[in-house]
Amino acid sequence: MTHDEVGQPPLEVPAPPVTLPTDPATTQSSDPAPTAAPADVAVPPVRSTISASLAVVEADPVLRDQLCVSLGDGVSPFSTIEEMAGRLTGAVPVVTVLGPSCSEDAAVDRVAAVVEQFPMVGCILVTEQLTTALLQHALRAGIRDVLAVSGGLQPLIDAIQRVSVTLEHTAAVPSAVTPTDTPPVAPVTSVPPDEPHRGQVVTVFSPKGGSGTTVVATSLAVELARRSSRPVCIVDADLQFGDVSVGLKLTPVHTIVDAVAAAERLDAALLESLLVTHEPTGLRVLPAPLEPAYADQVGAADLTRIIETLRSFCDFVVVDTPSYLNDVVLSVFDVSDSIALVAGLDIPSIKNVKVTLQTLRLLDIPDEKLLMVLNRADSKVKLDVNEVERALQFKAEVQVPSDVCVPQSVNRGEPVVTHSPRSGVARAIVGMADRYAAPVGSRHKRRR
Ligand SMILES: Nc1ncnc2c1ncn2[C@@H]1O[C@H](COP(=O)(O)OP(=O)(O)OP(=O)(O)O)[C@@H](O)[C@H]1O
Ligand SMILES: [Mg+2]
Repeated sequence: MTHDEVGQPPLEVPAPPVTLPTDPATTQSSDPAPTAAPADVAVPPVRSTISASLAVVEADPVLRDQLCVSLGDGVSPFSTIEEMAGRLTGAVPVVTVLGPSCSEDAAVDRVAAVVEQFPMVGCILVTEQLTTALLQHALRAGIRDVLAVSGGLQPLIDAIQRVSVTLEHTAAVPSAVTPTDTPPVAPVTSVPPDEPHRGQVVTVFSPKGGSGTTVVATSLAVELARRSSRPVCIVDADLQFGDVSVGLKLTPVHTIVDAVAAAERLDAALLESLLVTHEPTGLRVLPAPLEPAYADQVGAADLTRIIETLRSFCDFVVVDTPSYLNDVVLSVFDVSDSIALVAGLDIPSIKNVKVTLQTLRLLDIPDEKLLMVLNRADSKVKLDVNEVERALQFKAEVQVPSDVCVPQSVNRGEPVVTHSPRSGVARAIVGMADRYAAPVGSRHKRRR
């Protein structure tokens, strides 16, 4: 890294520890005068250093100074994104905090151009008012995170750290597909007026990879299929590395890419013909693309249209997702009746779930839509369920124990609910299904 990557004033490279006042009120002060950082600034508890350089872009000089002061030493201030871009060589990661003046559509578009040219720039937008439209526009533009000013300083520190880590990964894997590759969101196709049926959409998501999302989604779908008179379908929306088919030992003939290709004439009958059936349980599966390169052929509007069509003839559509938020995943959330958030008993997972909860609330997704699933809930890791619930301020309604039967079932290509029906894992997932549909043999369906 060079000291003048972003030119004058030079960035400290690697950036010094991000030392910030712990009191978020510092950033929300009504006093517009820039304040010096207090001498006894506390190091934030989550992580005190980032390896990327740090820049602030904000047209308003007072706000710009406040942001820089809040973030500590070694931050390079710029009034426009172009001014910053003029100092970049593209060789080193730069986390860029965009101030509220960058929230306008035209400014977001200008950021998109810079991010496209310099993939090593990771932007976080801090805005006065966070709306779904702005979030989707920003994510499509390649902005990594959007935060409300009112959220205080800690979420910004967390986001800076996350983006810094992601940039390091991007540097290591230059071919990674970014959310900027996804096409724009179009309005969701409505269900035809002559089709009264509207199955429930249950999305399973974890903001941390390897948390058990696919295990939970697959077994939940299988269990719901056992209980339903109409078809139940699982959609593998982990578009790059989806492994639902592998987990069910299925060889896909068609994938979600074929459904997108047939978008013009996509109706229930055509879509049904593209599904592969898991013969032992009758579960219908819409597999992910066969190769990561096809992922960007599936946009947010495509996926929501497919889900809406599926729910017209299915009792349940279960959606398995990747472990990051992009406009595809956010659009799936929008059409979901329930979102199961899978958390693990480790600090990074809990932190990410907390950030996700915050994001979902900012997007006006009501808590009633959310179901917290704590996976490997009995692990002996010096954190217990109560601590997690306290940290998240959310009850873990479903607790799935850790059990070797899970990897065993995955390796056999069998859902754990049929592979080890007596295990605690299967019982927890059956209990989860109880929230959505009555057990086999009951006459009435129970809904949340
Ligand atoms: N309760 C559990 N007990 C033991 N092992 C588990 C449990 N849940 C998940 N696993 C194991 O963890 C691994 C990851 O699970 P899974 O693929 O479902 O996670 P994921 O969140 O979908 O990951 P990815 O981010 O890769 O999509 C699997 O090998 C699985 O066998
Ligand atoms: Mg998965």
